[in-house]
Amino acid sequence: MEFLKLAKKRYSVREYTDRQVEKEKLDKILKAAQAAPTACNRQPVHLVVVQSREGIKKIGKAANLHGASTAVLVCGDRDKAWVRPYDGKQSTDIDASIVTDHMMLEATDLGLGSLWICSFKPDVLREEFSLPDNLEVINILALGYAACGPADPERHDRLRVPVETMVSWE
Ligand SMILES: Cc1cc2nc3c(=O)[nH]c(=O)nc-3n(C[C@H](O)[C@H](O)[C@H](O)COP(=O)(O)O)c2cc1C
Repeated sequence: MEFLKLAKKRYSVREYTDRQVEKEKLDKILKAAQAAPTACNRQPVHLVVVQSREGIKKIGKAANLHGASTAVLVCGDRDKAWVRPYDGKQSTDIDASIVTDHMMLEATDLGLGSLWICSFKPDVLREEFSLPDNLEVINILALGYAACGPADPERHDRLRVPVETMVSWE
């Protein structure tokens, strides 16, 4: 699909059917994750794909998945991330978010719904999934078949600030 059309088609899905995401689709989504750029190609990202009932229940203790049958914990690896020498800023969150965005847009192209989730209890996820100290969950990407929508692909002119406001030119 033409990129802008795809980007405008995507919307946050907060109601899902029980249908599980097929392995073939998940594999394509993970290939999109692999294709994402990271600072200095350090690839400081680890993905925990959760599809089991038990795993989804564990995430449910930390976040609202809105009934999604699949979730990906997008973890940043503080030991691998590039650090900007001028001020010590780590690229972890940026890298993890590009990976998340690639997966989210691939999911849209495959006809799946998705929800990017940052409102979660990090300590609960760390304990439930026995995450080592170097890994930090940056985002959760909920995936599944939408039981709502679709959203109007032309909604952004109403719901986003105008491009002229967002951008300055020099
Ligand atoms: C970094 C980030 C964090 C978000 N966290 C949450 C969240 O925790 N829960 C939620 O329901 N939506 C979350 N969202 C979804 C946004 O609320 C949503 O993308 C925004 O309102 C625009 O709506 P749209 O995705 O339908 O275009 C998040 C989105 C982003 C990019």
